[in-house]
Amino acid sequence: MMQHLTVVDHPLVQHKLSIMRQKDVSTAGFRRLLREISLLLAYEVTRELELTSMRIETPMCEMDAPTLEGKKLALISILRAGNGLLDGILELIPGARVGFVGLYRDPETLKPVEYYCKVPRELDARMTIVVDPMLATGNSSVAAIDMLKERGAVNMRFLCLLAAPEGVERMREAHPDVPIFTAALDERLDDHGYIVPGLGDAGDRMFGTK
Ligand code: URA
Repeated sequence: MMQHLTVVDHPLVQHKLSIMRQKDVSTAGFRRLLREISLLLAYEVTRELELTSMRIETPMCEMDAPTLEGKKLALISILRAGNGLLDGILELIPGARVGFVGLYRDPETLKPVEYYCKVPRELDARMTIVVDPMLATGNSSVAAIDMLKERGAVNMRFLCLLAAPEGVERMREAHPDVPIFTAALDERLDDHGYIVPGLGDAGDRMFGTK
């Protein structure tokens, strides 16, 4: 059984994350580091992809060589910050199918409401990786995974850059079958739902909208 939470503690990931956290990093620098880290995180999150073999011919001889089995995997970005993780992952897995989920928070109920959902067909036959850099309260991640399960996804992973204990717990309660991969588990959330020590608003930092 896979662990529910995996912190990717590779030294390159940790080093790059420490640079990204710093408040004076430029938008371009933040984006570049996010792309590099997401490539390294993608390597870990896809470790359990199934292999089969195919007959190939090297210049020396024929052999049975390992190759990925089954349908292309699905990457699902939770808008808008999830898009920042996509580039690096797609560099590593260019054939992946990509979907988008958009949610906003209802100002009265404070619950996430769907405003956009376009996902690849046959999710039931694909490893489905949901990406959002910040797992804070967990409300949007839980809602996005609910939507994807309604559309057939069964073999899912959640990939983020930073997680708060509150978000991990919320995910564990709602979706214990969805393992979480993150570069760091931070201390807590502040009163506005920001991760501390965190890195601020990931969307603003990657798109320069502050
Ligand atoms: N979203 C962010 O962008 N940052 C946080 O700290 C929490 C949620």
